[in-house]
Amino acid sequence: MAAIAAIAVFPPALRAQSYTSAKFKAGDSPEWKTPAFDDSSWQTLQLNQVWDDQGIPASTKFGWYRLKLATPQLPAATGTDADKYVMVNLGKIDDVDETYLNGTLIGKTGSLPTDKDGYRSRFSATRSYIAPRSLLNKNGDNTLAVRVYSGGEPGGMYTGPVSITPAGYLDGAKLAITESGEKAQRTCTITLSNEFPWTVSGRLAIEMTDMETGNVISRTERKISARPDKNAVVTIPCAAEEPVRISCVFTDTKSGKNITARYTPKYILTPAAPLSPRFNTAPVYGVRPGSPVHYRFGVSGERPMQFKSAGLPAGLNLNAADGVLSGSIAQPGDYTFTVTASNAHGTASQQFTIKVGDLIALTPPMGWNSWNCWGLSVSQDKVMASAEALMDKGLVDYGYSYINVDDAWEAPSRDADGKIVVNEKFPDMKALGDWLHERGLKFGIYSSPGDFTCGGYLGSLDHEQQDAESYNDWGVDYLKYDWCGYGRKHETQKDKGTRASYVRPYMLMGEYLRALPRDIFYSLCQYGMDDVWEWGHVVDANSWRTTGDITDTWQSLYSIGFEQQADLAPYAEPGRWNDPDMLIVGKVGWSNNLRDSRLTPDEQYTHISLWALLAANMLIGCDLSQLDDFTINLLCNNEVNAVNQDILGKQASPVVKEGAFQIWARPLADGSTAVGIFNVGDDDMTVNLADYLGAIGNQPLKSVRDLWRQKDLSTADLTYNIPTHGVRLLKVTH
Ligand code: GLA
Repeated sequence: MAAIAAIAVFPPALRAQSYTSAKFKAGDSPEWKTPAFDDSSWQTLQLNQVWDDQGIPASTKFGWYRLKLATPQLPAATGTDADKYVMVNLGKIDDVDETYLNGTLIGKTGSLPTDKDGYRSRFSATRSYIAPRSLLNKNGDNTLAVRVYSGGEPGGMYTGPVSITPAGYLDGAKLAITESGEKAQRTCTITLSNEFPWTVSGRLAIEMTDMETGNVISRTERKISARPDKNAVVTIPCAAEEPVRISCVFTDTKSGKNITARYTPKYILTPAAPLSPRFNTAPVYGVRPGSPVHYRFGVSGERPMQFKSAGLPAGLNLNAADGVLSGSIAQPGDYTFTVTASNAHGTASQQFTIKVGDLIALTPPMGWNSWNCWGLSVSQDKVMASAEALMDKGLVDYGYSYINVDDAWEAPSRDADGKIVVNEKFPDMKALGDWLHERGLKFGIYSSPGDFTCGGYLGSLDHEQQDAESYNDWGVDYLKYDWCGYGRKHETQKDKGTRASYVRPYMLMGEYLRALPRDIFYSLCQYGMDDVWEWGHVVDANSWRTTGDITDTWQSLYSIGFEQQADLAPYAEPGRWNDPDMLIVGKVGWSNNLRDSRLTPDEQYTHISLWALLAANMLIGCDLSQLDDFTINLLCNNEVNAVNQDILGKQASPVVKEGAFQIWARPLADGSTAVGIFNVGDDDMTVNLADYLGAIGNQPLKSVRDLWRQKDLSTADLTYNIPTHGVRLLKVTH
């Protein structure tokens, strides 16, 4: 009764127009939308917390919220149609809602299982519905009834309060810029959408700016109008080799108000590879004595190509047709030989050293992992399709070689002997391993030291040795070992929270892996707990995740890439890598529903540049069968990748941080320095590197190379325009 009592006390003009609680009842009845319904026996719930946290069973599917609202006093007379409407602001609702004002439906977000296209959650959408003022009662007593459907835990309204505000004339209009097509056919579409019940019309100004020079390339203006619930669309060509900013301003004639949008279409900086052979991968490879070698030389250039070697150590074989190296070497030591690749356009050679010893992963692993695209919907077919695409699209020629199956390959129970079993989506793991090895690719798998994985599949707890042996039988080359379900076991440990308690499960599996007659890259995934970078090497890990899960937003990239890696350089070295999580370029989605990465093109250049500087694991997380030219440009720049794969194995550190401006520097094996100049702010900036030379080494510079463009730049003028969230990746010598 609290809300109703409050209303009775104050005269309408003074009543609060924001409401923090409502009457609530679990269940569903069409009667509950009617203003006259008596809800006095219903309980009161807060609007800023899901119902699960307020004593309502999490299994509840339907629930109704009812609020008594005063008729708000709103500023009137803007002289536009907006005067006739109000906005009813509900905040976020988990998952689907239908909202009624005085019995009339004013909005719905998401869709119900009974709807034509079935259930669709929109839990993260903010609900603001427009409603005619005429729906509000003059006497001040209004009923807002919100029917909520929750498809899974949690449920309900959770970011209240609820409020009624004036309708802004242009609040229903949005300006968005999207692109489609590739290369010279790339076009950009500017859409003015209008969700409000009046037509907006005015002028759209479109300006294109060259982001390298800051010069305006073109300026045009068009008259456009968008009728209620309709879009106005303008399409322009936008193919560009250098970054071009499209800035749009729509000015509404009636209200004089404007809305803006800006967008940088994808631009391709990586020059096309020559048709003649070119070696793109590091000249070293680590393998343990007697372990099988699965390695494929990363050489771009037109096929067919022939591979030859001179001085190949005994025990190894080089496939002349595809450059796949196989065999094994029993005796520790460094074995140097020459590999030559030739095709119709020429010949190239690489002096290559196999280091037979204790250390593997002398450079960070490069490859693909199923998680960021397929999530739990991964299958053997999808994995093989990705491996095929990795080869067909030439990524394998740049050293991408691991094909890693993440969570969701495991059957719900072990066999009678306690052995882990695959589920129906993975018919034959050994055949998959063999298939990959024949092509010189490597096979990765996923498990947890806990009883269950993060996705709810079986983990390795109490079966560690058996699982390690299964991996050996299947030909596994990489294990991602993800804490997750181990959290429960950890809670039961007497020494929980101590370093020993964090190390224990990883030490155990690490020892079983080392006992196997093959090399398995050991990838720790426990989100950085207990400063794993300080002790990962103790369990013989090759990399350790330093953070929680990444997602395809700038916030996630910034926090994980810039903030959380800043102090970790001392812990990286050949064979031991900090892992800031997998790449978020291309089509991702963590499910069967894939989307283009939500990072802007500039953010994607920043992402790959930073991961190169960080000596990070380069595991592509997108559907490789849907790679576009832009994503290939990001992943297959041999000079950028050479920074990631530099054999000195030193990770970059931030050497300048001034507001939104950061410089990260990484010493390279040839004595030069890789330098990333980043703009992490929301405004474009111009930077003169000359002002910061002290931070990256001694002046003067002998050479400056732009690694994305693969071009030498002037050493006299070190001024660069860097767009918001963008980067300049350089290699400098002193
Ligand atoms: C955790 C990991 C992810 C992924 C999922 C699988 O969230 O951090 O990278 O492996 O588990 O369930």
